[in-house]
Amino acid sequence: MARIIAGIGTSHTPAIGAAVDNGKTETDYWKPLFKGYEPAKKWMADNAPDVAIIVYNDHANAFDFSIIPTFGVGCADEFPIADEGWGARPVPIVKGYPELASHICQSVILDEFDLTIVNEMQVDHGLTVPMTLLWDSPKAWPVRVIPISVNVVQYPPPTGHRCFELGKAIRKAVQSWDEDLKVVVFGTGGMSHQIQGPRAGLINQKFDKDFLDDLSRDPQRLVNISHVEYMREAGAEAVELVMWLVMRATLGDKVEEVYRFYHVPASSTGVGHIILESR
Ligand SMILES: [Fe+2]
Repeated sequence: MARIIAGIGTSHTPAIGAAVDNGKTETDYWKPLFKGYEPAKKWMADNAPDVAIIVYNDHANAFDFSIIPTFGVGCADEFPIADEGWGARPVPIVKGYPELASHICQSVILDEFDLTIVNEMQVDHGLTVPMTLLWDSPKAWPVRVIPISVNVVQYPPPTGHRCFELGKAIRKAVQSWDEDLKVVVFGTGGMSHQIQGPRAGLINQKFDKDFLDDLSRDPQRLVNISHVEYMREAGAEAVELVMWLVMRATLGDKVEEVYRFYHVPASSTGVGHIILESR
């Protein structure tokens, strides 16, 4: 049986990828951030998952504004790296797992949860920056990846509750896959940040830390946070945090927090990271 061993929450700030790609990780500005991910890389190397389900959002790269799936599951053999305006990031192509991705679609859709099947798609920083943070810069990624994109760029995004329910359905799908696999699930984006308007630069450290606490202490509180509350308390782009709730729900009721890191600022974003093992 395939097993979800852990959930990884992490911001996916594009400037983090640019810092790695341009050799700036040892500068005064970036060094503390990358140091904070070192224990996480060790955890990942020690646990060596076979598959990563990465819940992220596309930033108008794979999907332009002509079509915006609420939830899209990447079912391709591989996912090329998107050119986001300054050339594709110099990272390995992302290898998929079409058989398991199709199984997840079948299980979750027949559970009455409507997903978009995506057979061809490029992936942007929303997916590649978390991979860089956890696996560094390998010649080839050591995992197969099932990208799950969530619309958080155009109103209305799905609610936190809907994302949580999706996570439960994905858990059931993975557990019914008859192959001995270790799976990790990423929830990416956030934490507090706002990138435009008079409140640009807003960061709410208390909101972020309470969110990290309640992933294990009181996930139901997080499920009930409305879009307006995210925006008011933690900035418009903090709505990305609903994607962490997909991850959290794939882990079942009991989790143990085994690592956490929080850092401000990174390109005007509150950067949060957590590893929750499923118990
Ligand atoms: Fe984002």
